[in-house]
Amino acid sequence: MATRNKSILMLPGDGIGREVMGEVRRIAGWLEKGRGVAFDISEGLVGGASIDEHNTPLTDETMAEAMEVDAVLLGAVGGPKWDDLDFALKPERGLLRLRKEMDLFANLRPAIVFDALAEASTLKTELVSGLDIMIIRELTGGVYFGEPRGIETLPDGSRRGVNTQVYTTPEIQRVARVAFDLARQREGRVCSVEKANVMESGVLWRQEVQKVYDEEYADLELTHMYADNCAMQLVRNPKQFDVIVTDNLFGDMLSDEAAMLTGSLGMLPSASLGATDATGRRRALYEPVHGSAPDIAGSGLANPLACLMSFSMMLRYSFDLADDAELIERAVTNVLDGGLRTADIMQEGKAKVSTGVMGDALLRELDKLAA
Ligand code: IPM
Ligand code: MG
Repeated sequence: MATRNKSILMLPGDGIGREVMGEVRRIAGWLEKGRGVAFDISEGLVGGASIDEHNTPLTDETMAEAMEVDAVLLGAVGGPKWDDLDFALKPERGLLRLRKEMDLFANLRPAIVFDALAEASTLKTELVSGLDIMIIRELTGGVYFGEPRGIETLPDGSRRGVNTQVYTTPEIQRVARVAFDLARQREGRVCSVEKANVMESGVLWRQEVQKVYDEEYADLELTHMYADNCAMQLVRNPKQFDVIVTDNLFGDMLSDEAAMLTGSLGMLPSASLGATDATGRRRALYEPVHGSAPDIAGSGLANPLACLMSFSMMLRYSFDLADDAELIERAVTNVLDGGLRTADIMQEGKAKVSTGVMGDALLRELDKLAA
């Protein structure tokens, strides 16, 4: 049976999204030539780029295409140009619609410290060297999507803003299972994070995660932690964690914090996964954790590594190409060991390079590794 090409929808989005995606395209091209992998790559608009062209942060056509392809790779969305738009029209809505309609409930955000970058962290080197933690963020529920929501004007003329933090048992259980399954391939330790001391949704979260653990994963290790304490522990002693599982909003914040442990937001990839269907297929979207960084967009300063490592997560989780994923990760390691740095991870005595020169170096390194 001939194997079908792997279909990828690339949505570069706004700001540095376009630059970093350009470097990933070159690496994908290298894999096609050098490793005989066949991709069908299409490209579309999301965020501000789509607003400018179509007056909406995501068209129905692009949404439909995202549902059809094997995997989506997204750059970044947003920028000051679109900040004053109505909430429903903002660039971020395009990304949130993709997550919600593709039902990508499990967001994997690994924070790995490369040896070459341990000193680039704002924390002491010994605290972060060798760090390898995985944050699993629930991505389609909680306060991001809860109803009621909105801003209303009260009879006395004052205004009231409302959002709702809400979770159901299936929503909690399915993301807990993803965390436990991943922990099983790692050190087997899961820390579940909420605010059960002040929120009912947190109490339910804790109970349901515990139940899934007791019934299905009791051979692993489970601990519970309040989110504020977790934020503190992440900078005090991050290596105590293996897998962290938490809700949408806490996960948003804790993953930015964890990213900085690695030296830069420019280093953190992510995978957003849906449930596996009867045919074994699983919807997936991959994106760097960093934003569109409008202040440096177009100046060649962007770090393409988070987007590239998001692509390598795609190879691993969507295409079962662990060897090719490892090859890319090895190329990244070697290029960093060789002393090349984009501005965000620049250190004394290293060579500061542009987005494109970093891409050139990666291609050369891949050639070397494959020779
Ligand atoms: C992220 C981002 C998004 C989020 C924004 C862009 C909507 O911060 O992916 O972490 O809050 O989820
Ligand atoms: Mg965020």
